[in-house]
Amino acid sequence: MTRGKFITIEGGEGVGKSTQIGRLRDFVAGQGHEVIVTREPGGTRRAERIRELLLEHSDEAMPSTCELLLMFAARATHIENVIRPALARGAWVICDRFTDATYAYQGGGRNLPIDNISTLETMVQGTLRPDITLLLDAPLEVSAARANARNAAAGTSDRFEQERRDFFERVRAAYLARARQEPERFIVIDATQSMDAVTAAIQHALGERLLNSSAS
Ligand SMILES: Nc1ncnc2c1ncn2[C@@H]1O[C@H](COP(=O)(O)OP(=O)(O)OP(=O)(O)O)[C@@H](O)[C@H]1O
Ligand SMILES: [Mg+2]
Repeated sequence: MTRGKFITIEGGEGVGKSTQIGRLRDFVAGQGHEVIVTREPGGTRRAERIRELLLEHSDEAMPSTCELLLMFAARATHIENVIRPALARGAWVICDRFTDATYAYQGGGRNLPIDNISTLETMVQGTLRPDITLLLDAPLEVSAARANARNAAAGTSDRFEQERRDFFERVRAAYLARARQEPERFIVIDATQSMDAVTAAIQHALGERLLNSSAS
């Protein structure tokens, strides 16, 4: 059985990850692959409970290190119970954020040492890395406006979305820096485009990088 492909979607709040994941699922399924769509933090019952701990409003301060360890704790059970089994049976896994988000938010945003993140990455993942990472990139004005409009409509917000602007600037810069470091894994998409243009860019890039190679 050929191992499935592991695709992650990254980017700041409101850039359009969930929107594009729905379309990507249909596109990959249309190529005849089993598709699993999942997200981080989360993706299993236990990991979703950890997600609630990470996002809840609380008067108890959340030390950055606690946040980092919870992210990887959730990731450990997600990989073991969902991602590895799916890939092993040949399914393609599409994950809404993964370890690059930890580098961007806890590393770039919260200034935690990259070496610590890298150590945990090896501990939790071994050699598992995404085959392709789609980074949806947009200036803060664009993503914040989209996320705020959506949240106002839904009447929701979470702790991360109330962080300061400079925090999100650091997150975006850290994402782009990672993309520059691993150009063979990353596909950077201009997320300011229309939904259809973003979808077309994703399908074009995947066609070039993955679908052709898996067919050969
Ligand atoms: N290319 C686009 N142009 C205009 N609006 C968009 C575009 N992509 C998504 N949107 C809208 O922006 C809002 C946020 O999109 P979406 O929920 O997909 O973002 P997200 O990256 O998943 O956000 P989050 O990080 O909060 O999960 C939604 O209301 C969506 O309809
Ligand atoms: Mg989303």
